[in-house]
Amino acid sequence: MKSTPVTVLSNKRIAPHCFRMVLSGISEEFDVEPGRFIMLRVGDRYDPLLRRPFAAYVTETVRGKALEIFYAVVGYGTGIMSGMTPDTRLEVLGPLGNGFTIPDPSRRFLIVAGGMGIVPLRGLTHRLIDTNCHNIHVFAGAKTKSHLLFEEELKTREISFHPATDDGSTGYHGFVTDRLDRFLAKDLPKKGNGTVCFACGPSAMLEAVAGIADRYGIPCQVSLESRMACGIGVCLGCAVKLRNHRTPGPDNEYYGRVCVEGPVFESKDLVWPI
Ligand SMILES: Cc1cc2nc3c(=O)[nH]c(=O)nc-3n(C[C@H](O)[C@H](O)[C@H](O)COP(=O)(O)OP(=O)(O)OC[C@H]3O[C@@H](n4cnc5c(N)ncnc54)[C@H](O)[C@@H]3O)c2cc1C
Ligand code: FES
Repeated sequence: MKSTPVTVLSNKRIAPHCFRMVLSGISEEFDVEPGRFIMLRVGDRYDPLLRRPFAAYVTETVRGKALEIFYAVVGYGTGIMSGMTPDTRLEVLGPLGNGFTIPDPSRRFLIVAGGMGIVPLRGLTHRLIDTNCHNIHVFAGAKTKSHLLFEEELKTREISFHPATDDGSTGYHGFVTDRLDRFLAKDLPKKGNGTVCFACGPSAMLEAVAGIADRYGIPCQVSLESRMACGIGVCLGCAVKLRNHRTPGPDNEYYGRVCVEGPVFESKDLVWPI
């Protein structure tokens, strides 16, 4: 785990609720596997004291490799970030956490995103395409059409894109999990046809996805966006209950840290609700 000084290259609003920040200063070797994250120190002094966790994506710029972050402004830290101008100096810790486990490319991939959960899953879909996966379905849920991120980018030859919005302004009118359920009811995964599911979003949505995946017998990896104080396994503030399948009976629960053992977990290993 390494702390890297970085500099804001650009920081622009790309949707009503979302900014894109690009940070220069990372080395050529720096990589963030899909699902892993970084902790960003958003002030150069002690306020705010705690770093904030974000999914990050390595991108090419005219100045070389840079880190790309997409963030929603929800509170104090992200409020400060939204006012940052180019040349602001920050510090990145990471990459941290475990990331998604990518099975062989012949599988059918169902990617289910709620709100900002699309950010780490966008990195995953790019990685799937780079590794020759062709059967990819992205189910993306958002409040309205203008809250739906990466729509054009994800409508590629390899991806079937299934949007769902709360107000029906684009795609399915309703929950993205209902859209997923309807899709599976029509296009049933046959035993052993290799469908796999990846999800990120609010915990109620993840619980619904886990239930659907369980019903259809689909392996499902979920990425949790818990609140994190340290991000490095020390404070235990991000602990969630896990199930040990090797020990039958009621005493098979134990705790895992989202920042170290996660943020990606097999949905069947989590004790729901989170
Ligand atoms: C592994 C991981 C990856 C993440 N990736 C992204 C990302 O790519 N883009 C993005 O916009 N956000 C992401 N988040 C969430 C992001 O870290 C929080 O939104 C951010 O820390 C809020 O900071 P704040 O100081 O603005 O909010 P605060 O002032 O600390 O809190 C304001 C409000 O936001 C809520 N909040 C705070 N932290 C979280 C959280 N982790 N999840 C949900 N609600 C929260 C609080 O409950 C409160 O209601 C990620 C979180 C994790 C754990
Ligand atoms: S955030 Fe401190 S242990 Fe995970």
